[in-house]
Amino acid sequence: MVGIKDIEDAIKNIRPFIHKTPLIHSNSFSKLIEADVYLKAENLQKTGSFKVRGAFNKLTQIKNGNVIAASMGNHAQGVAFAAGRLGLHAKIVMPVTAPIVKQEATRGYGAEVELYGESFNEALDYAMSQKNYKFIHAFDDEEIIAGQGTIGIEVAEDLKDIDFILVPVGGGGLISGISIAVNALSPGTEVIGVQAKSAPSAYSSFKEKKISSNPPLPTLADGIAVGKIGDSTFDIMNKYVDDIVLVDEDSIAMAILLFLERKKLVVEGAGAVPLAALMENKERFKGKRIVLVVSGGNIDFTLIDRIIHKGLASSGRIGVFEVVVDDIPGSLHRISGVIASHRGNILNVAHERVAADLPIGKTKVIFTVEVRSSEHLGEILSGLELKGFVVKK
Ligand SMILES: Cc1ncc(COP(=O)(O)O)c(C=O)c1O
Repeated sequence: MVGIKDIEDAIKNIRPFIHKTPLIHSNSFSKLIEADVYLKAENLQKTGSFKVRGAFNKLTQIKNGNVIAASMGNHAQGVAFAAGRLGLHAKIVMPVTAPIVKQEATRGYGAEVELYGESFNEALDYAMSQKNYKFIHAFDDEEIIAGQGTIGIEVAEDLKDIDFILVPVGGGGLISGISIAVNALSPGTEVIGVQAKSAPSAYSSFKEKKISSNPPLPTLADGIAVGKIGDSTFDIMNKYVDDIVLVDEDSIAMAILLFLERKKLVVEGAGAVPLAALMENKERFKGKRIVLVVSGGNIDFTLIDRIIHKGLASSGRIGVFEVVVDDIPGSLHRISGVIASHRGNILNVAHERVAADLPIGKTKVIFTVEVRSSEHLGEILSGLELKGFVVKK
């Protein structure tokens, strides 16, 4: 099993190539949770995620030849970047369905991208079968784990008396490395893993004390949507991790939005789950000193407007409701007058006249309104009801 010595060696191996990322104190998150909250900003790491740490530690130990990995995300970019810097040839296998932006980002770091298979698993099997290449596993590998563990050393160097460190978990390489380092250097700190409810494979395996596979459902935290954790990461997690918690999609969206709004940090879903976990478990973390591992910032910008919208809706800053009214001139004007009198800002209005449950002569109007809070939305809805409108949220 990987030990602290391996992680100390790893930090020497990788220091010339990576950033020591900042540990940022957050006043606003501290206030929000009534705790003392710090962010280990791996979204500011080279390639936008911590993955380069493991990749450099692994690849500095391969003197020459070709390496191969299967990944659609941060592991691809980490391996591609490290191989380029170390003068190795890297091939990254992606399924034919991989988004073009991801293919291009990986090519941009100098790797050869080969498209193979319809699914990630087909691409993975193909990559593992390539004889002339050394296969680089994304998490179930001692050098990769030791590389990711260097985050634990940096955090322990920068801050003392940490009560909790919260770490996103996919296959478990990141939390394995960090938990080994933290156990050795900051033994009073509890290590808590975080997964999305839609992709709970490490959570189930940890709780049931046996490896189980759960095919992940779609989630905003796509970077940690892994169906099955590794054998070695499972053993390490059982030994050193204190707990794993799950978070839902609404809080992940809200967390991404909070990072943007309050900290001006671009954080992807997987990197935002520790903040989501704080918000979902305020009582547990109140009054404590907490480090959140903000593991990556490679968010899909084609989705960001939808994520922001979801985050605003979950945090009660956008309200969507429908009102059934007589389909005559002036109805809309009366409703918008009530909304304006409560200082709600109408963002969108949609009409529906053909719903099966709609009587002839009526129309359904769906409003999207910007509000200050869910209480403010409640005031608007009561105002409409007082005027005789039937409102449905
Ligand atoms: C941004 C981000 N956070 C966390 C993880 C989880 O890492 P691991 O699979 O080692 O648990 C990943 C994995 O790809 C990731 O991309």
